[in-house]
Amino acid sequence: MSKTLSINKASLTLERLNAICPYFTMFPLPVPLKRLSKAPREDWVLDPFCGRGTTNYAARLLGIKSVGIDSNPVAAAIAEGKMVSVLAEEISNECISILENSPKVTPPEGEFWSFCYHNCTLRDLSTLRAELMKDAQSPQRKALRALILGLLHGPRNKGLPSYLSNQMPRTYASKPDYSVRYWKKHGMKPVYIDLVELVKRKAAYYFTSEQSNVPYYVFCGDSRTLNLIDLGVRFSSVITSPPYYGMRTYVPDQWLRYWFLGGPENVFYKHELQLSHKSPSEFSAQLAGVWENVARSCCPGSVFTIRFGGIHDRKANPKDIVLDSIHGADCKLKVLTTRSAGLSTSGKRQADQFKREMKKPLEEFDFFVRLEEPYNG
Ligand SMILES: C[S@@+](CC[C@H](N)C(=O)[O-])C[C@H]1O[C@@H](n2cnc3c(N)ncnc32)[C@H](O)[C@@H]1O
Repeated sequence: MSKTLSINKASLTLERLNAICPYFTMFPLPVPLKRLSKAPREDWVLDPFCGRGTTNYAARLLGIKSVGIDSNPVAAAIAEGKMVSVLAEEISNECISILENSPKVTPPEGEFWSFCYHNCTLRDLSTLRAELMKDAQSPQRKALRALILGLLHGPRNKGLPSYLSNQMPRTYASKPDYSVRYWKKHGMKPVYIDLVELVKRKAAYYFTSEQSNVPYYVFCGDSRTLNLIDLGVRFSSVITSPPYYGMRTYVPDQWLRYWFLGGPENVFYKHELQLSHKSPSEFSAQLAGVWENVARSCCPGSVFTIRFGGIHDRKANPKDIVLDSIHGADCKLKVLTTRSAGLSTSGKRQADQFKREMKKPLEEFDFFVRLEEPYNG
């Protein structure tokens, strides 16, 4: 793959895989692509808040090795599905093989489930879930898991179906009571979706050709504490976008995808591995802890690119939060530049994804910060 890969028509099919499953706070792909375009192949890049793995995917497109960390299992599973090297046919064969050879499991019961999925679709989905919970180690299973996460819910369309569920948003799963009220009000019963047919069709769409094999690690963990040193890797750059202060609903808003990965059958609100949002100063202190943890595995001179902004229901200055975190970190970090990344209007920005909360666009910022000395603290 050319190092000068640009976002043009030829790379559209590669962009498809980046969008295999929506995630609230997508980082636009050109951001990490641009930052990494001149990086040598020997480099390792880290995203300690990788979300759906945009930084890692950009690194992969450029042949650069990467590590991604996210404490939301949904994010980590999507990110990992985009990093494996696998053919579409292998994914659908794996799906067929699981459905043909695995013991049937009892699907979840109750009004929500009977309205959300046709009983045959839910039966197949539950079988896949049980098997992938037991073992999702192979590239085929990692890709299948990410694919199913993206197909799990979304709007009903007129032609061939694109999603397994009854009518639902694609970006987040609406809450069970609300969903049932909606389906009843609109007289919407779930239709049968042939899971294997959908997987075949969508695998062929997202996994268009064999993807290059570039070394990577994706961890589902807490970037404040995850031990990176044992990996034995030195990072030359960090490209990341932490949760904006006040944004706490990553796991509950993805509750149905979380269920598919082994989570409970209802919305799960408490997720302690997420940064907490009690006050701006406490939030900055946690970010400082992340920078320190990360700096232990960074080469001196490595540059951190940090995109950050605000959300409407929290009156806190995003610039202060990031700058306080940089100055509060025990390692020697120097702020090189801070610049506006524009307004969150394009549909690609973090704040814009929360349509329900969106009032007017908010400014986002890019911070470029250099690690001046090795950090062994
Ligand atoms: C702004 S999003 C990152 C989006 C990412 N740039 C992308 O393109 O998808 C922030 C992410 O930080 C994750 N997160 C929150 N607290 C975390 C923690 N303590 N450790 C690791 N990840 C965390 C959230 O789950 C969320 O996915």
